[in-house]
Amino acid sequence: MANRPQIAVLISGSGSNLQAIIDGCQSGQIEAEICVVVSNNEEAFGLQRAEKAGIPTQILDHRNYENREAYDSELVHCLNQYQPDLLVLAGFMRILTPLFTEAFVGKLINIHPSLLPKYPGLHTHRRALDAGDSHHGATVHFVTAELDGGPPILQASIQILDGDTEKSIASRVLSEVEHKIYPLAVKWFVEKRVQMIDGKAWLDGELVGSSGFQYGKEEKT
Ligand code: GAR
Repeated sequence: MANRPQIAVLISGSGSNLQAIIDGCQSGQIEAEICVVVSNNEEAFGLQRAEKAGIPTQILDHRNYENREAYDSELVHCLNQYQPDLLVLAGFMRILTPLFTEAFVGKLINIHPSLLPKYPGLHTHRRALDAGDSHHGATVHFVTAELDGGPPILQASIQILDGDTEKSIASRVLSEVEHKIYPLAVKWFVEKRVQMIDGKAWLDGELVGSSGFQYGKEEKT
């Protein structure tokens, strides 16, 4: 359908979050269209998910570029051809340069598997287990030049149970948290309910707290 907001999704792997957003667009939860899925990894399973849904794909292998700036510059060029209203990082395992983050400021979001501001960076599930945390989860946030440091939009948690392993936690965070909060945050963005103003996230005209809106603890759909 014409005039629907256009979403570009960037992936590196399985693409289960991409699938949740595809499902949200197909069911009508999200009134938008995914215009392209870009991967830096030609073997990413998410590319097959996109093809199955009839979404154009692009592969940009970072190993073919001299440095991060050269790669990010090509990525900006590639994405600009689609004129996306929103760019969704869904397991895109690249550190982005300011060249990229500034090109799409205010319309670039990411999901990170931790209760930010706790555990930016890698190995978040292991770090939560090692620290003896009672809860773990994921956070959707606007992307700025600071790694996993942009303003949080939406966050949800699970309880860490006796006997949990890195793998069991990762799997529950994906299915019980990420696949619920990412489509919801995308829906809010395309409905213009959430935006970044002066480096802060706002939802329905209210400043969002430093950990994001708490899914399941506060009412909002
Ligand atoms: C997700 O857990 C996502 O939060 C994480 O990668 C996984 C991708 O899964 N992203 C990061 O760690 C980014 N720093 P998916 O490919 O099945 O959506």
